[in-house]
Amino acid sequence: MNYLGSKLSLLRFLEKSIKKIAGSDSNRVFCDLFAGTGAVGAFFKKQGYRIVANDIQYYSYVLNRHYIGNHKILAFTKLLNEIPGLKKVKTDDRKDFVCDYLSQMKGKKGFIYKNYCLGGTQSAEIKRQYFSDENGMKCDAIRQKIESWKKQKLISNNEYYFLLTSLVKSIDKYANTASVYGAFLKQLKKSAQNTLVLKPAELIINDQSHRVFNEDINKLLNKVEGDILYLDPPYNHRQYATNYHLLETIARYDNPKIRGKTGLRDYRKQKSLYCSKLEVKKAFKDLILNAKVKYIFLSYNNEGLMSAADIKEIMSLRGKYGYFTKRYGRFKADKSENRNYSASQTTEYLHYVVCE
Ligand SMILES: C[S@@+](CC[C@H](N)C(=O)[O-])C[C@H]1O[C@@H](n2cnc3c(N)ncnc32)[C@H](O)[C@@H]1O
Repeated sequence: MNYLGSKLSLLRFLEKSIKKIAGSDSNRVFCDLFAGTGAVGAFFKKQGYRIVANDIQYYSYVLNRHYIGNHKILAFTKLLNEIPGLKKVKTDDRKDFVCDYLSQMKGKKGFIYKNYCLGGTQSAEIKRQYFSDENGMKCDAIRQKIESWKKQKLISNNEYYFLLTSLVKSIDKYANTASVYGAFLKQLKKSAQNTLVLKPAELIINDQSHRVFNEDINKLLNKVEGDILYLDPPYNHRQYATNYHLLETIARYDNPKIRGKTGLRDYRKQKSLYCSKLEVKKAFKDLILNAKVKYIFLSYNNEGLMSAADIKEIMSLRGKYGYFTKRYGRFKADKSENRNYSASQTTEYLHYVVCE
């Protein structure tokens, strides 16, 4: 997933730096509390750490609830009589079979089609084209089926979050946007013309138990204890709630009131203090002072709302402070969009403090 601030390509840098300071014993609790796509938590989960994941966005909760929270085989036993042919499939392969079944469903004119596709908004005042008509209808059909299976108790919570994750991850590949959902393109781009296929999300099996939350980090903090706290907040004013509003609506499927050219849902409860120049230092200080952990690591770059000096001053309040750096390619929108950037590289920092 092309996610703002994703750490997918920095995982080795993070691993090397974190292990240099905290050691490589994996029998520990690793907290990833601005978890986004779950890439960092999933990486450490695979190494045997127990993970606590959190994010303020619900679509991100869904992704983490699956990638982190699911760690046992998904057998889909209650769907055996529901989906023709499923009985003959090996348990391990059933999740792929269920995704295939959903992919082949006939589309439905639901909330996504009616509000975010050209066909559905044709006679409305504001026309939108976030997805092709075909994919909008497919998305609605799949999302409604997942919900009705859950209501009828034909799938477990674990299976529900696996299917929702597969949908959120898959639909994102067909979005008619330059990268985020703050705007859509006038013409359907090539990848948006392809027919949506529900690709099964990776299932990471292991013996550990993990916890996943969907809260504002500053409110969650007193409920969580661990060894390593990894922080990857937004670096600038770009709110995730607006940039990924459609993934939020697909994940929640709650028929929200929407407004404006982009069909934005109300996001007042998800406004992040970490995106505000005025508020960020206070929120960050509160976080650092109250974290119940041994090591704190913070990803941030040299263009963020807080300066390196601010960060050093705040983190030093807890103990011995230091940092690692890496030159890093800037987040790029779709190349076809020809957007201009002042520089193609930034310096990525990993600040840390060993708490006393
Ligand atoms: C830079 S992204 C994290 C990217 C993640 N490490 C990855 O690799 O996918 C920042 C995340 O912080 C979340 N966020 C912002 N403010 C938050 C808050 N106050 N509490 C919890 N999560 C927050 C956003 O929703 C976003 O997913």
